[in-house]
Amino acid sequence: MTPEELAHAGLDLAVDGVVATITLNRPEVRNAQVPRMWAGIARILRELGDDVRVVVVRGAGGTFSAGLDLSLLDPAKPEEDGNFIATLGLPDQAIIDQIGIYQEPFALLASPRFITIAVVEGHAIGAGFQLALSCDLRIVADDARFCMKEPALGLVPDLVGTKPLVEAVGYARALEICASARIVSGAEAGEIGIAQVVAPASELDGALAAMVDAVTAHAHGAVTATKQLLQDAPSRSLDDQRLAERTAQVGRFRALAGG
Ligand code: ACO
Repeated sequence: MTPEELAHAGLDLAVDGVVATITLNRPEVRNAQVPRMWAGIARILRELGDDVRVVVVRGAGGTFSAGLDLSLLDPAKPEEDGNFIATLGLPDQAIIDQIGIYQEPFALLASPRFITIAVVEGHAIGAGFQLALSCDLRIVADDARFCMKEPALGLVPDLVGTKPLVEAVGYARALEICASARIVSGAEAGEIGIAQVVAPASELDGALAAMVDAVTAHAHGAVTATKQLLQDAPSRSLDDQRLAERTAQVGRFRALAGG
């Protein structure tokens, strides 16, 4: 994407060796998310070169993201990307299809091609929480504040966050967090399995560098094949998972012999 396209999407992109960093860059509205931002993230992820092994997602200005840009829910505040309330005249299927497009960048963050890391400081609310959950790993400031606010607004979380939340904390804790729409601190996020690393905000960059070193230390093919196995494990029977392991290992044997 050109610098102009990135700016229009409210994004910044930096690629440094095997690491691509996508920064939500609308700090004046706490990195509130709009559809052109989602389209931009999807395009970046699709266009990244095969040499990129890690994708970092973070927010500018000391906060991750205040979630959906609320102007999209307020017909009195027309936003460039339109207004969600105005779409209610469409048939249900058209709205379902549109949300499916909005979900694409969140789903693409699960691609086995790379390991995705959210670096969260400040707030991660609603769509912000879901964006962080859509990454493989989360490095979180101890005073960060997560909130699945959608139910408090009469909505459901619909940006791919429900499945990773349940997988991270279990059904009962996920329900409690979502139904209450309460704040989960960074420290608690570490205790209940949402965050893999919790550190003071001033130490997040060091923690990120250490994580990047750790997850890029070994053969890319082995890591991506292992990620695929782990992702698919919950939905497979033990026998099917055993078969998937054997099949993946043949690929690894051949890659090792060939290289
Ligand atoms: N959408 C649009 N604008 C926003 C949003 C948002 N989600 N969040 C903050 N802003 C704007 C504010 O209106 C304010 O604009 P102004 O300077 O023109 O008045 C500016 O960003 C700064 O916001 P403050 O509230 O002053 O910042 P503060 O740091 O005190 O608070 C916080 C940050 C807690 C994130 C607060 O802004 C907030 O609660 N935002 C709304 C969160 C929300 O409800 N998101 C939707 C969740 S549901 C979903 O994502 C599907």
